[in-house]
Amino acid sequence: MNTKTLMLGLLFSAVAFMAVGQEIALPEPALDAEASLKEALENRCSSREYVNSPIDLQTMSNILWAGWGYNREDKRTAPSALDRQEVTLYVCTRDGAYRYDAENQCLVMVSDKNIMKLTGKQPFVETAAANILYVTDKSKSASPEMTAVCCGAISQNIALYCATAGLGTVVRGSFDAEQLHRLLKLPVNQKVVLAQSVGYLAK
Ligand SMILES: Cc1cc2nc3c(=O)[nH]c(=O)nc-3n(C[C@H](O)[C@H](O)[C@H](O)COP(=O)(O)O)c2cc1C
Repeated sequence: MNTKTLMLGLLFSAVAFMAVGQEIALPEPALDAEASLKEALENRCSSREYVNSPIDLQTMSNILWAGWGYNREDKRTAPSALDRQEVTLYVCTRDGAYRYDAENQCLVMVSDKNIMKLTGKQPFVETAAANILYVTDKSKSASPEMTAVCCGAISQNIALYCATAGLGTVVRGSFDAEQLHRLLKLPVNQKVVLAQSVGYLAK
């Protein structure tokens, strides 16, 4: 971990002092120096062994933009049926939970609690640097199947980015959907449908 990474990592840790509703501006996504697509595809795999090390803001920005950021004025890095864009990503860290506001490339704190444990049913989820939740909006979705395809595309974008950046990840279907719905204060039309752990790999 270089000094810049460490400093940004500490900055992300410092958000423990934030209040619900406050925003963290994410740096402009910067994926230029990453590995080739061939290397990303060769290295893509599910990882479940992480070291307890935070992800810096630049890397978090890259992960979220790769997954579901805007790459054109009003369209994203992953497709959605009828361009409904019915998915919202939430990021759960030890410091709290945040909604990814892709339009403004920032995170908005929605909870100051560590809800990492509820984002999975396997012990390793608590050891990841962050667990990303996929929240879908039934009132926007063309159908559950179409939404599942959209989530799959986002998660693969994230997995490929992680494979280029020396990060581990695993997409997961097991989590406490009801508790997460309550703790994230989601409206009835929204639902957590997928989770994805990300973190630095244990050697
Ligand atoms: C929709 C979906 C749900 C999954 N759920 C879990 C899960 O809850 N826990 C887990 O450890 N892995 C989960 N996985 C990861 C698979 O176990 C993994 O992709 C599979 O074993 C193949 O390994 P690979 O990804 O390294 O190729 C899930 C994968 C998908 C696509």
